[in-house]
Amino acid sequence: MESSTPVIVAIDGPSGTGKSSTSKAVAAQLGLSYLDTGAQYRAITWWMVTNGIDTADPSAIAAAAGKPEIVSGTDPEYPAITVDGFDVAGPIREQDVTSRVSAVSAVPEVRARITELQRTIAASAVTGIVVEGRDIGTTVLPDADLKIFLTASPEARAARRSGELKGTDLHATREALVKRDAADSSRKTSPLAKADDAVEVDTTDLSLHQVIECVVTLVEEKRAGR
Ligand code: DC
Repeated sequence: MESSTPVIVAIDGPSGTGKSSTSKAVAAQLGLSYLDTGAQYRAITWWMVTNGIDTADPSAIAAAAGKPEIVSGTDPEYPAITVDGFDVAGPIREQDVTSRVSAVSAVPEVRARITELQRTIAASAVTGIVVEGRDIGTTVLPDADLKIFLTASPEARAARRSGELKGTDLHATREALVKRDAADSSRKTSPLAKADDAVEVDTTDLSLHQVIECVVTLVEEKRAGR
């Protein structure tokens, strides 16, 4: 592989491991595109909620999965996402979407649709791309040049999330995180999982800066070894 070939980096792991902050910073530092696949699942969930689809009914979700048009920006400095032309970057972070996204993203028709979108975006990245999610290294981009799996203790993850969502209760945040991880890890279609060839980085005792430096070094080593 020549050094001018686009580099594909897959970063997976549960929420609160620093995945988004790390992925964006690594992409910005190395001049790569960036794709937040969780935002895409949140966007399709937002559309279901907004259009009155019962998110507890997998067949209703499956029937509607092809309807919304989801467009993701790939600039790490300005991650943008629209659904049918509406900017949903704010609404997709709200609690009613967060509490339903695991159920919606477990539906195979939803995963097939979003996975296809993700592969198209990754294939069109000129210099390369950092793609963050839950199943990128295992399912979406199994041939990625570098696969990272970020982990952290539930306590550290809950503390980080509580810091992001000001005023939330730490215990409740931890419970909600553990519940969402269990749902994401146990679903039948492409669950949250570490690929056999992924490098696992435990971020519990690392600063964000240290995690970014670690991943940047791994990408640079990959590129140099080509
Ligand atoms: O990273 P996040 O918390 O924004 O992701 C929201 C949800 O989307 C997560 O609970 C599971 C789902 N998801 C997924 O199933 N596969 C991905 N590649 C990314 C996210």
